[in-house]
Amino acid sequence: MNNATLVATAAVFLSACAYLPFSSGPSATAELKPLKGSGVNGTVHFTQKGDKVLVVAEVKGLKPGPHGFHIHEKGDCSAPDGMSAGGHFNPHGKKHGGPNDPDRHAGDLGNLVADASGNAKLTLETADLSIGSGPGNLLGRSVIVHADPDDFKTQPHGNAGARIACGLIVAKGGRSAY
Ligand code: CU
Repeated sequence: MNNATLVATAAVFLSACAYLPFSSGPSATAELKPLKGSGVNGTVHFTQKGDKVLVVAEVKGLKPGPHGFHIHEKGDCSAPDGMSAGGHFNPHGKKHGGPNDPDRHAGDLGNLVADASGNAKLTLETADLSIGSGPGNLLGRSVIVHADPDDFKTQPHGNAGARIACGLIVAKGGRSAY
């Protein structure tokens, strides 16, 4: 390798490194903590990808089966029953529904489905949410896991029952400015 090739290779490498932090948009995270001693905990990651947000959740300590899973409008998990988080995040004044229904709240993420060991994973992409700006900005709101399944019909909450875990959504790693 001669010097010119070396310089060119280094330049390509350095520009690739400079590009990497911008390869995906801002991200945020919510650490789910148990409410009323439910033992339910987990982590939810949010990553802006173009005009959509990728949601990846891993939750433990659940009863097997489906559990309503929503973003609620207030970033306040202080009440023992989680009611301090307010109602579903609904910036467009729509009816409650499932994540694939045309009528739905921006915070309607559907159901977490726990396996026989009580573990649930969920991955979805939604254009209803955004990180850091816009009406769908999820920073400063909260994620709630419910005791019962969301039926996607009952207004305005899907009849998902008690709130069993709550986590405040915060910007991750100083990327919130992008
Ligand atoms: Cu909810």
